[in-house]
Amino acid sequence: MSRHVISEAQSDVSTVLVGRAMDDAVVASVAELAPQRVAVMCQPSTYGLAESYAAMLATAGFEATGYTLPDGEEAKQIAVVEEVYRYLNSQSFTRSDVIVGVGGGALTDVAGFVGGTYLRGIRAIYVPTTLLGAVDAAIGGKTGVNVDGKNLAGVFRHPESVVIDIDTLERLPLQQRIEGAAEAIKTGFIADMTIVEAFERDGIDVDLALVVDRSVAVKVAVVNEDFTEHGRRAILNYGHTVGHAIETSTGRSHGTSVAIGMVAAGAAAAHLLGFDGQERQTAVLERVGLPLAAPEAKRESVRALMALDKKRDAGGLRMVLLRDFARPEVVAVDDATVEAGLQAVGLA
Ligand code: GLY
Repeated sequence: MSRHVISEAQSDVSTVLVGRAMDDAVVASVAELAPQRVAVMCQPSTYGLAESYAAMLATAGFEATGYTLPDGEEAKQIAVVEEVYRYLNSQSFTRSDVIVGVGGGALTDVAGFVGGTYLRGIRAIYVPTTLLGAVDAAIGGKTGVNVDGKNLAGVFRHPESVVIDIDTLERLPLQQRIEGAAEAIKTGFIADMTIVEAFERDGIDVDLALVVDRSVAVKVAVVNEDFTEHGRRAILNYGHTVGHAIETSTGRSHGTSVAIGMVAAGAAAAHLLGFDGQERQTAVLERVGLPLAAPEAKRESVRALMALDKKRDAGGLRMVLLRDFARPEVVAVDDATVEAGLQAVGLA
């Protein structure tokens, strides 16, 4: 088992455990916090796993209950969060108790939001069950719900620990592994080409233990440097400026949108910074089964959504671009650079 430590301040430490057969690690992580009650929050697709954790926790002497949220983005609503508050209150949860979030990125985002706000803060443990959650969403303390825009409301708050079971991830359906591969490859492009090389070698049958461990290490290092995203953390958004706009305007999944966003960013970087890794980028994305273009997207709505991004930054549009692999920069981009990026993904 490997252990990565996020240290926001001396008093606020979060541990990420990556290993196999991690049931005992989940129970031990709860036991370390010595709560009386534990609420295991899950989504319909992780109900069975959550039920078995709840049974193990009950055997270990905790008052363990379960709570099922809606699947995916449906869970990321203020109304859902309010129901969870009422449930925890009805079960007399106090600040000494613990919630365990078992599920994908949306589930851990909501569990974290509840963790950061119920009674002004109740401790949380995450067990991400998707590759995307394990390499990105569950790491780094971003929580949130959607209000008009994605993640419009949220808090930065680390869970006490994150327990990643590679055995669970290896059982995922192919399409879910492909989704998660996009964020892992992104992490490789910005900071650790070993991850990219693993995908180049083995495609989607890659060694997930290696990929997850190295992706977590990169993310933990970046988050330790800039928890609340005032600087370096922005590099984790590589591929996300165009990617988010495509995701919002077409309803396409996050992973495939980010892959297309990286193709656009590659072309934009070639235009502005002389980046010469475009072919290698597209080859590895294609090798794992990710798309390279979004023919269904409407150019004008993608541009309008990108402009919204710009308004939030209160300045000109900025993108994360690669000067070279593992050399990301957050740079102001002109119109011609944006056009070069959009053209590369079929949005001329
Ligand atoms: N998913 C980007 C971040 O955690 O900062």
